[in-house]
Amino acid sequence: MQDSSFVQLFPEQASTFAWQVDALYGYLILVSLVFSVPIIFAMFYFSIKYREREKYAVPKEIHGSMVLETLWSVIPFFVSMSVFITGAIVYFNQYTPPDDAMEIYVVGKQWMWKFQHQTGQREINDLHVPVGRNVKLVMTTEDVIHSVYIPAFRTKADAVPGRYTYAWFNATKPGKYHLFCTEYCGLNHSGMIGTVYVMEPGDFDNWLSGNSGGETPVQVGKDLFENKLGCASCHAGGPQQRGAKLEGLFNTEVHLVGGGTAIADEDYIRNSILNPASQVVEGYQPIMPTFKGQVTEEQLNGLVAYIKSLSPNAAAAPAPAPAAKKPEEKAPAANKATK
Ligand code: CUA
Repeated sequence: MQDSSFVQLFPEQASTFAWQVDALYGYLILVSLVFSVPIIFAMFYFSIKYREREKYAVPKEIHGSMVLETLWSVIPFFVSMSVFITGAIVYFNQYTPPDDAMEIYVVGKQWMWKFQHQTGQREINDLHVPVGRNVKLVMTTEDVIHSVYIPAFRTKADAVPGRYTYAWFNATKPGKYHLFCTEYCGLNHSGMIGTVYVMEPGDFDNWLSGNSGGETPVQVGKDLFENKLGCASCHAGGPQQRGAKLEGLFNTEVHLVGGGTAIADEDYIRNSILNPASQVVEGYQPIMPTFKGQVTEEQLNGLVAYIKSLSPNAAAAPAPAPAAKKPEEKAPAANKATK
């Protein structure tokens, strides 16, 4: 997989945007060299040329030059703008998951990574993904901030307690790749590592069907919703309905009591379960109890997945997501990834 005879400055490139990150990095190094090398040479040259102190004790007066002033303002302006614009393009590519991506839940915990596929398979510290498909990581954590870093994919994003963050990639080469935690998270931070297995799509399907995963996140959520937590007693339709209607809710705009609106995305649903009083939808009473402390991160993921599944058209559909909503649903994901 890796050419060991070659001194490796960069990790191997194994995702669709890896070359963009490296190209930008190379460009930054080039710009730094173009400026620093002549300066170093000029330092040596002048210190030799002007080494006779008496002769140069009183320097010649220098008068302003409009041409020079203009040049050394305009050239750095364009250089810095080129860094900014290419950096922004690469950043948006890296942190805007495509709509058709397959979603994998990631839960960080001191000190392990827990993954769950939409089909129910769970993995710890190992992540199996198919080559050539868009994979979106929906990440959160049970305790402190962790950060997923897969060098070969050139992707890195924090997992933050209490909310969802996202990362995505499209792996280009089958193989085994390192996964690191890159946010200091306590004693065994350095041991919070994992392996990403990129497989041919056929092998991946076999792997997926060979590992009977038990309940899918949607089934976990449905069970909690209908039985264990009793959400359905208020949220199911009919004369008993006291809570908001959840069918078709995902990714739509909701109007909140006290003015203001919100997009019903993953974070909104999560927050509605944990802090229901913080965003009551117009037309409903603030009667929903909090479920903070009663559900684990995995159960929350299941509830979110179930509520998403009630909106078959809005959730991660390839095309039909209304164009007007896209910037709102994407901007937060991009912002979160910065920190
Ligand atoms: Cu988890 Cu460092």
